[in-house]
Amino acid sequence: MPQPLPKLQQIPAEIAAVTDYEPFARARMSDQAWAYMAGGAADELTLRDNCAAFQRLRLRNRVLADLRGGDTRVSLFGQTFDHPIFLAPVAFQKLVHPEGELASVLGASALRAGMVVSTQASVDLEEIASQAQTALWFQLYIQSDREFTRALVQRAEAAGYQALVLTVDAPVGGMRNREQRAGFVLPAGIEAVNLRGMRPLQASAAPAAGSLLLGSALLAAAPTWEDLAWLRGLTRLPILLKGVMNDEDARRALAAGVDGLIVSNHGGRTLDGQPATIEVLAEVAAAVEGRLPLLLDGGIRRGSDVLKALALGASAVLVGRPYIFGLATAGASGVAHVLQLLRAELEVAMALTGCRSLAEIGPELLWYPRGWQQDCPSPPGGTNA
Ligand code: FNR
Ligand code: LAC
Repeated sequence: MPQPLPKLQQIPAEIAAVTDYEPFARARMSDQAWAYMAGGAADELTLRDNCAAFQRLRLRNRVLADLRGGDTRVSLFGQTFDHPIFLAPVAFQKLVHPEGELASVLGASALRAGMVVSTQASVDLEEIASQAQTALWFQLYIQSDREFTRALVQRAEAAGYQALVLTVDAPVGGMRNREQRAGFVLPAGIEAVNLRGMRPLQASAAPAAGSLLLGSALLAAAPTWEDLAWLRGLTRLPILLKGVMNDEDARRALAAGVDGLIVSNHGGRTLDGQPATIEVLAEVAAAVEGRLPLLLDGGIRRGSDVLKALALGASAVLVGRPYIFGLATAGASGVAHVLQLLRAELEVAMALTGCRSLAEIGPELLWYPRGWQQDCPSPPGGTNA
């Protein structure tokens, strides 16, 4: 007997923009899952700043431009994508929907959006790949068990993942106070299935005298620049480094032979108090000098935010929570709809700023009051007005 297909879920009629999904998602999620998905680290300064910094930026329209024959195509690592909006790696998607990552990959496939699958996915990476009709990249956390990590990379290669996204900004989790207050723990039946069978960290993991964490086995096993060199030698896949937030690290990554960088502060979930990603993009872009593709995530909630990121030097962007809230509300349909809304908004913003292609999007699209320093994307004081 063939398996019955999952029911196609409908999109609430009131939804006109991606943030409209939030109350619907909230209503469908437990308090604990909401704290995990929506929350950030500590006081959530960075979580809020990611969105607020986009909202502070102002755009210059351009009139009477010739808009014939435009598109939003972008080439990355030898592959052409219809549009520059990717799904960011988000762990444990079964927390919000019974089909988890399988629904997300269907939604991404409907819009031909690239999807980055988390090391901590709640579905087998091979099963996700078997359902994909779009490009998949694998997000890698280098595990304390390096042999297991090697095997994981080989599994991702064998399953057809086309790039590795090495996340480097979370050797430890951030201070997740919202999760602690909500008593978040993973419910039975939801786990990082792709990490099954890994050798656990040494039992004698107690930190050395004089430290709570710093002398621990956990941090002794944390990945370093040497591990990046090891990974470079292990795979032919393009490697993107995710979590680079300054020019110094960007230059070091470039020298280490990475193929791309993702400017990211992990959606405000690791080091609280970091600047918004859009605020550091110009610094990283200046260090990279166009030698490799730069992507950005964190706080993108509008197609005009995508335009702003591209104006300041990104080739493409990723979204996290917006599609998770679409997934929670309406499964694969919700994920596809979130992507569709962002695409449509991006194209409207391009038309109104006189851009026919992504290549025509540049820093001149941003507006600053006369007298502001042009190289400061978001002027101190919090508003451009
Ligand atoms: C994440 N993120 C993340 N990143 C990563 O490299 N591996 C992972 O497993 C996860 N897991 C994860 C879980 C949840 C619930 C969230 C919200 C985020 C970070 C993610 O890839 C991305 O950097 C941010 O989500 C981008 O910010 P926005 O779009 O959520 O504002
Ligand atoms: C998180 C980890 C899984 O942000 O990256 O929750």
